[in-house]
Amino acid sequence: MHTGKSMTGGFDPAFYESALDAFTANVAVVDATGEILAVNDAWVQFVDFNDLKIANHGVGCNYLNFCDRLGTPGAAAVAAGLRALIAGGDGPFRHEYVMPLDTGSCWVKLSAVRVGHRDQPFLIVTHDDISIQRRAELGLREATARLLHAEDSERRRIARELHDSTAQHLAGAKLMLRRLDAKDPVSTGLVRDEVSGLLSSALDEIRSFAYLLHPPALEHLGLAAAIRQFATGFSRRGDVAVTIDIPDDFPRLSHATEIALYRVVQEALANVHSHSGSQQAVVRLRVAGEMVLLTVRDFGSGLPPRRDSIPGVGLEGMRLRLEFLKGHLSLRNAEPGLALEAWAPLLPEGED
Ligand SMILES: Nc1ncnc2c1ncn2[C@@H]1O[C@H](COP(=O)(O)OP(=O)(O)OP(=O)(O)O)[C@@H](O)[C@H]1O
Ligand SMILES: [Mg+2]
Repeated sequence: MHTGKSMTGGFDPAFYESALDAFTANVAVVDATGEILAVNDAWVQFVDFNDLKIANHGVGCNYLNFCDRLGTPGAAAVAAGLRALIAGGDGPFRHEYVMPLDTGSCWVKLSAVRVGHRDQPFLIVTHDDISIQRRAELGLREATARLLHAEDSERRRIARELHDSTAQHLAGAKLMLRRLDAKDPVSTGLVRDEVSGLLSSALDEIRSFAYLLHPPALEHLGLAAAIRQFATGFSRRGDVAVTIDIPDDFPRLSHATEIALYRVVQEALANVHSHSGSQQAVVRLRVAGEMVLLTVRDFGSGLPPRRDSIPGVGLEGMRLRLEFLKGHLSLRNAEPGLALEAWAPLLPEGED
C-alpha cells in the first residue's frame, strides 16, 4: 500500500495495508477534506499502466477538488455523493461512469463507504473496471437487434412470397370462377380444371410455409426425426441428395436448442442448393462432451474468397441463434465444398 502523510485518529495504516492490497479493485483512502491518504497496489498499477500523469499516484491530492475541476456530469455526481457521505449520509455510495483513457475508454464502477470515528471519518473509495461486463451487455444488445432484424427480413421474405405467389393463385381462381357459365359444359369443365390447379398450388405453398414456420415433427418427435423428415423432403424436391448421419440414440435436447439446430439445417441445406453446386450433402449430429455438434457438409464450390460485404440473412441468422445459446458457428472450406459446424451446449429436454 502506498501511503502519504502520517495518519492519526481512526486510520491505522498497518491494519489496512495488507487488507487493501489484497483487493483487485483500485482502492483509495480519503479523509474528510477529500485528501487521498493512501492507495493500494492495484491503484498504483492502474496509474502506471495507463501512464496517468498524477503526482505520487494521487496520494496527497484532493479527490473532491479533482472531481470539481473535471466538471463532467459523472465527476460532479461522484463529488456530490462523496460529500454527502462525509457529511454523515448513509452509504455505500455507488456510481458507474466512463473514464476516458489514452488506451481507450474504460467503464468504472465506483463504490465508497465511510469508516472511522464520527468526528474523523474516512472514505474507502474503490474503482472496479467493469468494461468487459459492459461490452458484453452492449454486445448482447447489438446481437438482439441484429437477430430481430434477421427475423424481420425472414418475415418480409415470407410475406412477399405469400403476396406475389399464393395470393396470385387465389386471385386467379376467383377470376376464373366468374367465367363459369352453367349453360356451357365445355367451358365449365375447363374453368373447373384451371381453378382446381390454382387452388392446389396455393394449398401446397401454404402447407410448405406452415411447415417452414413451425415444423410439427420437431416438437413431437425431436430434432433427429425432424431433420430426417426435412432432409427426405428436401432431397425429393430438389437436386441435392442428403445423407443423414445421426445415432439412433441421439437424445432430446432443450426446445431452444432443437429449434436453433433445426433452423441451421434448413438454412445450410438451402445454401447448399443455392450456392454450392453440389449434388450431395451430409448432415451429421453428435454429442461431443458437454456440447452438441451439427455438421452440414457439401462437396461443391466452397465459400467464395471474398464474400459480399453485406452478409445474407442466412449465415448471420445461424450465427446469432447459436450465440444466444452460448454456442458458435464455424465455416471452413473442406476441399471440395463447405463444412459448416454448429456448436451448442448440451442442454437436456426441459432445460430452457
Ligand atoms: N454451401 C455453400 N457453398 C458455397 N457458398 C456458400 C454456401 N453457403 C453460403 N455461401 C456463400 O455465403 C453467402 C452468404 O450466405 P447467406 O445464407 O448468409 O446468404 P444468402 O444465401 O446469399 O441469402 P439469404 O440466406 O439471406 O437468402 C452466400 O451468398 C454464398 O456466397
Ligand atoms: Mg442463405
